[in-house]
Amino acid sequence: MKTNRSNKKHVAVVGSLNVDLIASVRRLPGAGETVAATGLRKLFGGKGANQAVAASRQGVDVDFIGCLGGDADGRAYRQRMRDEGIGVNGIDRAPDYLTGSALIGVDVSAENLIMVAPEANGQLAPSWITKKRRLIQDASVLLLQLEVPIESVVASIRLANESGVPVVLNPSPLNEEFPWEEVTVDFLIVNETEAEQLIGFKAGTLKTRKRKWAEALGRLNVKNVVLTRGSKSTLALIEGVVVEIETLSVNPVDTVGAGDAFAGVFAASLAKGRSTEQSIRLANAAGALATLKSGAQEAIPTRHQVQRALKKQK
Ligand code: RIB
Repeated sequence: MKTNRSNKKHVAVVGSLNVDLIASVRRLPGAGETVAATGLRKLFGGKGANQAVAASRQGVDVDFIGCLGGDADGRAYRQRMRDEGIGVNGIDRAPDYLTGSALIGVDVSAENLIMVAPEANGQLAPSWITKKRRLIQDASVLLLQLEVPIESVVASIRLANESGVPVVLNPSPLNEEFPWEEVTVDFLIVNETEAEQLIGFKAGTLKTRKRKWAEALGRLNVKNVVLTRGSKSTLALIEGVVVEIETLSVNPVDTVGAGDAFAGVFAASLAKGRSTEQSIRLANAAGALATLKSGAQEAIPTRHQVQRALKKQK
């Protein structure tokens, strides 16, 4: 694993910053239906920023590469990232655009429905990635999702591949146009639905059809896969070996951002030089703890909270 400018390990995150408008509802509306919300909250979110916050709360240096709008939300979000201790030199500003937003409904059983308006996130250009390339080249790990333009994701992964920086990709939301053949992904983090759509197999078959999975991953240029399954154990295929790791048992209030907590903690833990198995164990705990409060970033645990929860579990 690479070392960097400080003695802390360093994660570079390329991704989205959204303002989340979260409506609490008794039940989620169907198409063409209106339901009354019982409450509304405006919070910081976006898969990229959520994952960066999760990594930073594990005590690693984090640099963010993304794009905010020229509005008051954009200014507030830049400050918020600073307050979280995240490097903001890689955050561009699109003056004529609003900051990205997500409209989220959460029902009483913690089920959610999300609509994302990329706005300024859609303006993150490959030329900006090139300008900020040192942030990626100097990183111990590069972490990405698919809420920003594919060309910028690909440009970032290429830089990491050329510099030997391990790449962790959470390909959410899935995008059929992603050119898997052009880049190499060291760790792919997917949930059950994404696995089925992308790899073509049901998640549980990883244990019985390891060879088929390995072939499919090979076609995507993916070296290792980590398969999150909500409250069920996480499965992974790491260097050809199937790994299964239990998660904490919790009563979720809001699952928005739980996958982001998982990805951020996993990347931070790899950056610290921990084994993949140990990184999954920590990420499982963070993902479970992240469901205990409403809001994506509000619920993301600190390093101590994760460690305390794992000790209690023993
Ligand atoms: O993964 C949760 C995130 O997805 C939310 O914070 C929302 O902004 C959307 O990007």
